[in-house]
Parts: sequence; C-alpha cells; structure tokens
Amino acid sequence: MYGTKHLFITFMDMLAVIKKPIEQEVVAFGNYFKSQFTSDVKLLDSALRYVGESTGKLMRPMLVMLVAKCAGEVNEKSYAAAAAMEMLHTASLLHDDVIDESDQRRGRPSVNVRFNNNVAVLSGDFLFSQALNNAAVTDDCRVVKELSVLGKALSRGEIMQIELQQSGSYSEENYLKVIECKTASLFVCSALCAVYTAGGSEAIAEKFRKFGEYVGICFQIKDDIFDYSSNDIGKPTGSDMREGKITLPALHVLRESCNPLLVPIREKLGRSEYLDEKEIESLIRISVEEGGIDYANSRIAHYRDLALEALPDGLPQELHDALVAYIDYVICRNK
Ligand code: IPE
Ligand code: IPE
Ligand code: MG
Ligand code: MG
Repeated sequence: MYGTKHLFITFMDMLAVIKKPIEQEVVAFGNYFKSQFTSDVKLLDSALRYVGESTGKLMRPMLVMLVAKCAGEVNEKSYAAAAAMEMLHTASLLHDDVIDESDQRRGRPSVNVRFNNNVAVLSGDFLFSQALNNAAVTDDCRVVKELSVLGKALSRGEIMQIELQQSGSYSEENYLKVIECKTASLFVCSALCAVYTAGGSEAIAEKFRKFGEYVGICFQIKDDIFDYSSNDIGKPTGSDMREGKITLPALHVLRESCNPLLVPIREKLGRSEYLDEKEIESLIRISVEEGGIDYANSRIAHYRDLALEALPDGLPQELHDALVAYIDYVICRNK
C-alpha cells in the first residue's frame, strides 16, 4: 500500500512540506546542535567531530519544532529540548553499534570501527551527559524528568531484546513492547517536551504523546522491513536475524505459515539458538514470499491511522499538512 510506486509526491516534496513551517528553525537548530560536538580532550574531540560530521535525518528535532509550533512557538527552550532528544538518540546509536557489533552507521564506518569500542562507549556516555545538560538548559523540570524516563526506556528496550532472544519467546506482543521502549519512547518524549517548552496544555501534550507513540512504532517497523532486502539505507542488511532479533515480517510467517522449512527454524529459535546463514536466507525469503512484509506494511497503515486520529482539531493547515507529511515520510523513506 505504501510502496514507492504508488507515491504521487516525492520524498523531496514530503520533506519540503515538513520543513515549510519550520525552515528557519531547522537551520538554527542545526547550527546550535553541531556546535556541541567538540571537547578539549583530543581523542574525544576527534570522535565527537566524526559523529557531528554526519548528523542523520534529524527526525526527532523536526518533530519537536513542528509540535512546539502547534502548541505555541519555537523558542530557545525548544531548541535545547530538541538537542537533548537528538543527543540521547545519537548516544544510543553509538552504544547500539557496539552492542550489535555493527560496522556501518549513516553510510560510514561506525565509531566502534573507525575508533574502537572503548571510544564509542565513552563518547556515547559523553553525549548522554550532553543530552542531560541540554535538558537542564530548558530550566523545566518536566523536560528533565521526561529525559530520565526516556533514558530508562531506551535501556529497557535494548535489554528486553536480549531477554527475548535468551528465552526464545518471540511474539508480536513482545516485539511491540520492545519497539515502544527502544524507538517510540524518543518520539513520545520529543512531542511531550515540545509542548512543555511552548507552554501548551496537558490536554495538547496528551494528544501529541499519542501521535509520537504511533509515529515511533511506524518508524521502527519500517526500519525493520529494510533488513529484508538490499537497500541504500546506510546500514548493513540481514543483520537483525544475525543479532537474534526476529522482527515483524518474520514473526508473521513464523506464526501463520505451514512451510516445512520453518519447522527447524522455529525449534532453533525456541531453544534460543542463533540461526545460521542458510536459515536466515530462508526465513527472509519466506517472509518476503508469504506475506510477512505485506503484513508489516498493513500494521504500519493501522498505526498511521491512529496517529492521524490523535492529532488535535483546528491546527493551522500548513502545520497539519506538515505532520501528515512527517508520518508519510517515516513510512515511505528509503533510508
Ligand atoms: C535509527 O534512527 C535508529 C532506529 C530507531 C532504527 P534514524 O533512522 O532516525 O537515524 P538517523 O539519526 O537518521 O541516522
Ligand atoms: C537502534 O536499534 C537503537 C535504538 C533504537 C535504541 P536497532 O539496532 O534496531 O537499529 P539499527 O538498525 O542499528 O539502526
Ligand atoms: Mg543496531
Ligand atoms: Mg535495525
């Protein structure tokens, strides 16, 4: 349903619609954010500059700015909150690549490979603290509190993922719990803190919390689908299963398909053993051929509907369109 062939507007058009109401703010944020990737310690400085050279899509800061505009105005506190979110996100990616032994990030060698594991972990810790510092700059306890909730959610998500692999208890319900923690929590926190910094009401915060949650779920399901085909996302493919992560397309066929090739795979997963390359290849192929990707896309469509239902009534048209384009970009992106 959301295959690129059905798209009448391009990704660039979508990005333009997202950025239209926040054009200047995105530039101002970029400058503010990038200036924070330095240190007086030479080795840390090289690692931070390396990370700062290739910032990602900035999805979370863009959400902060759009939501702050909906709830009031983008101000200095909103920039600090956006920087806190993106810093925590960046830190978690440095740590994630160590945990996953991943050698690529944003199309370049990851910090653990370009430097080493120790530098990646410690630079990640530095960025975590930098995130906290940005939260403190907002001078709003609610932002600091949400950031602490977020930090805990990210670690819980990553640990739950390991626990699932160790117990072999793969299910869609458990998958959703993990992605709510490790991914959607960042979108939730971005939306909430945006409302707080803009002086919006609790009722508005609640609506955007839901929007953030559903967008985040769509984001991770989409990210997981990338792993089933060769792509130019800037990250290695086929790696989730190698790491013991069984994501939605495969969960679907493991639950629904009678294909005999899945019998030994189910047994191995139940014994929390890692799949070998041949088994990974067949699980990917069966997921693609027997409707696993279609199923995951149908769940994305479902959460997209919920996200749009959560939006408050009466938003200015340009902002409403930007938020719709935002979720469509999340769903249709190719990186
Ligand atoms: C990657 O997030 C981590 C996941 C939640 C899958 P992004 O795809 O937003 O990463 P960048 O910041 O744009 O590189
Ligand atoms: C990304 O998780 C890290 C967090 C969301 C905390 P993944 O391991 O699934 O994402 P990629 O594929 O490395 O970006
Ligand atoms: Mg990873
Ligand atoms: Mg992934």
